[in-house]
Formats: sequence, C-alpha cells, structure tokens
Amino acid sequence: MEGLNENEIAPLSSLDVWEDDVLKRYPEDGTKKAKEEFRNYDSPENDSVREFYRLNHKYQTYDNVLAKKANFLKFDKKEMPWWAAMDYLNTLVDDSDPDTSLDQLQHLLQTAEAIRADGHPDWFVLTGFIHDLGKVLCLFGEPQWNVVGDTFPVGCKFSDKIVFPEFFAANPDNDDERFNTKYGVYTHQCGLDNIHMSWGHDEYLYHITKDHLPEPALYMIRYHSFYSQHRENAYDHLLNTHDKEMFKWVDKFNPYDLYSKSPKPPVVAELKPYYEDLIAKYLPETVKL
Ligand SMILES: [Fe+2]
Ligand SMILES: [Fe+2]
Repeated sequence: MEGLNENEIAPLSSLDVWEDDVLKRYPEDGTKKAKEEFRNYDSPENDSVREFYRLNHKYQTYDNVLAKKANFLKFDKKEMPWWAAMDYLNTLVDDSDPDTSLDQLQHLLQTAEAIRADGHPDWFVLTGFIHDLGKVLCLFGEPQWNVVGDTFPVGCKFSDKIVFPEFFAANPDNDDERFNTKYGVYTHQCGLDNIHMSWGHDEYLYHITKDHLPEPALYMIRYHSFYSQHRENAYDHLLNTHDKEMFKWVDKFNPYDLYSKSPKPPVVAELKPYYEDLIAKYLPETVKL
C-alpha cells in the first residue's frame, strides 16, 4: 500500500472503536436498530468509523486480497511460542483512553472464560482465546481497514446488506464486469472455501490454525466478522449446505465475542496455566506469523 498517509493507515483511535460500532449495530437485546437511529448524530467516533469504512470499502479489492495472501501466507515475519504471540498482540495499545477499554488479551480471556463458564468443549474455549490473534497484522504495518472491519466476499457484487454499502462506489471492482455481477467469478452455492473474503485478521488466523483445530472452530475463526452473512444472510447464494450447517457454530460463537465484557477483568496470571495447557493440547509449540 504505497502512498497512504497516516490517517489512511489508522483512521480509528483504536481497533475497539470498530467493535464498539458493531455492538451498537447488533445490540445484545436482539433489536436491530434502524441505521438512522444511531448514525444521525455527529461525533468524532462516528466520523472515524465512517472514514474507516470508506477506506475499507474502497481498497478491499480482489487484487488486494490476492496480494495480501501472497505476502502473509508465507508466514515469514516472526516465529514464537503461542503465549509470547498473545503478549506480542498485546503491545497493540493504541487507544487514546486506555481507562475505558480492555487490552487485547483481556478481550480474549473474557471471551474464552464466558465460553468456558457455559460448559462448552475445550477447543471452543481455546478458539475464544485466540480468535483475534490475527490482529498482529497491525503490528506488521497493515492499515486498520486491512485488519478489522466486517468482512465480505470479493470477486462478486458487494451486498447492500454490508454496512455503509454506498462506499463501494469507489471500489474499482464495482466497475469491473468480471466482479460486479451477483456471482462474479463464482458459481451458485459453490461453497465459501472457494471464495476469497476481504482480507483481515479472520482469514489470516484461519490459515495459521487450519491444520490444528476442529472444523467448527475454523469456521468461527474465519467468519466471525462476516456479519452480512451470519446476521443478514446476504450471501446464501454462495454458501453450500455444509457451510450453512457450520454457520450454526459461527452464530454460537458471536455473542461471546460481542457481549462478554465483564466489569471484573480476568487475572492473567491465574488463568495462564489453564490456557497454556489448552494451547499445548491442540497447537504446535510455536506459531509462525
Ligand atoms: Fe475479531
Ligand atoms: Fe473479538
């Protein structure tokens, strides 16, 4: 990404600003708020979310995804033990107001602890614990819109169910007849495994973990930000029957990701031995990033 200025790399004061916005869009009580209800006031935070999506929708092209895969799926950036990688992710402290937000490790532990408290299998707990590790992409200099944000298929028409659909007008794929039809380069219910999703932390971590975790865990990791599908079914014409079955797990995971902020922050030192054991059970000793 040459020629990007600092505002284009980091329009959000923190990655949490995106997650807070998702939470406003899909509140825990299940009401789907009308867009106008929460966007019709101006605030610096709203403006930064708008700007974030403007950049995301403009630059997440088919070619961007192929280029990012060619680079990051070489996994030649860093190699370290898993817990060290979680600590590394936690150096991503970019909030202007650290008092009001959780650090990355706290979010991951809260998500995982809520899953554990509900008695789910240990691989599900581990999935909660690592699901955002892909955000280390930011530490490799990737702009925020190539790391977080709602994800969506590229290579076919952008759904108007995706947040801020109007910003896709500036995406070159929108005017490219290979990519701007309902199916684009894909076919009816060809299955998500044959589809390129917009680039971000979800897809990246999927490739890191794909040989080590059960399939439902991999769906949770890979599609946890694909809100236009798991909340709005915008791409039913691309999912196959197996994807639909597996999306039940994505739906199960999502509330833990969004709604598990507890007022009492988990004590890392107390929980570390349990999570180190889980890591040792399922994952190799080191992670290649
Ligand atoms: Fe995430
Ligand atoms: Fe998350």
